[in-house]
Amino acid sequence: MSTTRAYCITTEAVAAEAKRTGGDFEAVDVSKIIALDDLELGPVGPGDVKLRILAVSGEHNIQHAALADTINIADARGGKMYPGNSAIGEVIEVGSDVSKLTVGDIVATHCNGEPDRYGFPLRIWAYDQPESIGWYSKEAVVGAWQLVKVPLDCGLSLWEMAALPLRAPTAYHLWRRALGIYRVKVPYERRAVLNVMSFGGGVGELFLMLAKSEGHNAFFCAGNAERRESLEKLGIHGIDQKAFNRFQSPQDVKAFNKACKVLTDGEGMHLVCDMLRGPVFEAGLAVAARCGVNVSAGWQLGQEVTYNSTVQSVKQVSIDHTHYETPEGCEAATELYGRVFKPTIHREVYRFEDLPRCMQETHENTQTGIPIIRVADEMPPSVQKLL
Ligand SMILES: NC(=O)c1ccc[n+]([C@@H]2O[C@H](COP(=O)([O-])OP(=O)(O)OC[C@H]3O[C@@H](n4cnc5c(N)ncnc54)[C@H](OP(=O)(O)O)[C@@H]3O)[C@@H](O)[C@H]2O)c1
Repeated sequence: MSTTRAYCITTEAVAAEAKRTGGDFEAVDVSKIIALDDLELGPVGPGDVKLRILAVSGEHNIQHAALADTINIADARGGKMYPGNSAIGEVIEVGSDVSKLTVGDIVATHCNGEPDRYGFPLRIWAYDQPESIGWYSKEAVVGAWQLVKVPLDCGLSLWEMAALPLRAPTAYHLWRRALGIYRVKVPYERRAVLNVMSFGGGVGELFLMLAKSEGHNAFFCAGNAERRESLEKLGIHGIDQKAFNRFQSPQDVKAFNKACKVLTDGEGMHLVCDMLRGPVFEAGLAVAARCGVNVSAGWQLGQEVTYNSTVQSVKQVSIDHTHYETPEGCEAATELYGRVFKPTIHREVYRFEDLPRCMQETHENTQTGIPIIRVADEMPPSVQKLL
């Protein structure tokens, strides 16, 4: 047993900020809700690994936990939770039954907390999986089955790799599903090149990198100009979402549809990734091509959606939902680090002590890419050239 420093979210902190802001989510200061704590780590069991966390990425589920906008997860977890389900770490101890990893290996965590019979997560680690402890901490004890060795020679920096453990598997699964569903309807010989669009966010960007790497037309509809510019460098066409007022009115959606038709020779988008829902959902459906597929694993702006079933039937449009990836899929997604996944990261790499500020800046939507937090002061020799 040992003690480490770890960030936690408590029911009291969520309630105090909700009371201060009177339920106005935009006014919530997330940095006041996430706080450093002393955490006692369990023993390293036969199938476990002890990690020294090197770097983590800020994940959007921290906002959901802090705002309690979907469920009050800190409350559901008994009043306190330790978040953080995306990390790169150094193996510092292995249990007696662990053969796939050795001390010194550099690994990524995956957050499939409990696979169902097909491998899909029933619950997510460090979120709704009971007893699960997250990795916004200096050290962690974790089952070896939850670790994937990272390809240190993939061309990415340590910070870029730290952007990927949660978002890349999510994007990988969304891509496999969207393409697979489309191909049930339209085989390759009837249409090779697809129009693929995603809305803003780290997952959406990675989804488009998969599309681009397979030769499709890729469109990134986001409000953030810097993120659009960095995707333009990969040949992914940017669409300014703010030019359509983030789809606040039916006229905005109509104008967006018209613009997308111009961009796609009247065809529309064959595959759309929408992690946001809310007003974005209607815009994504409006631009669907015939036989199009709309996929999502997120509900950032709204959980409920409505649509005209007749119109979607006539257009042969599919609406699909996913949730993270299988453990095998996480391994496969990790193989694509650097080859396909070249994430845009925020210009500041935050210090461990600045993690609460990082989470607040995510909430304010002011970051220029995926936010990364350096956890270890001393880095192992194997990653020195990747800093
Ligand atoms: N179920 C799963 O397996 C799974 C896995 C990963 C993520 N998720 C969820 O999916 C969602 C997106 O995740 P992510 O990691 O891609 O998020 P992210 O990297 O934090 O990006 C969120 C994006 O939302 C956009 N945005 C913010 N406010 C907006 C608004 N008012 N209107 C329209 N767009 C707005 C921003 O893009 P612009 O300002 O540039 O438009 C921002 O880049 C989150 O809710 C997350 O919890 C689910």
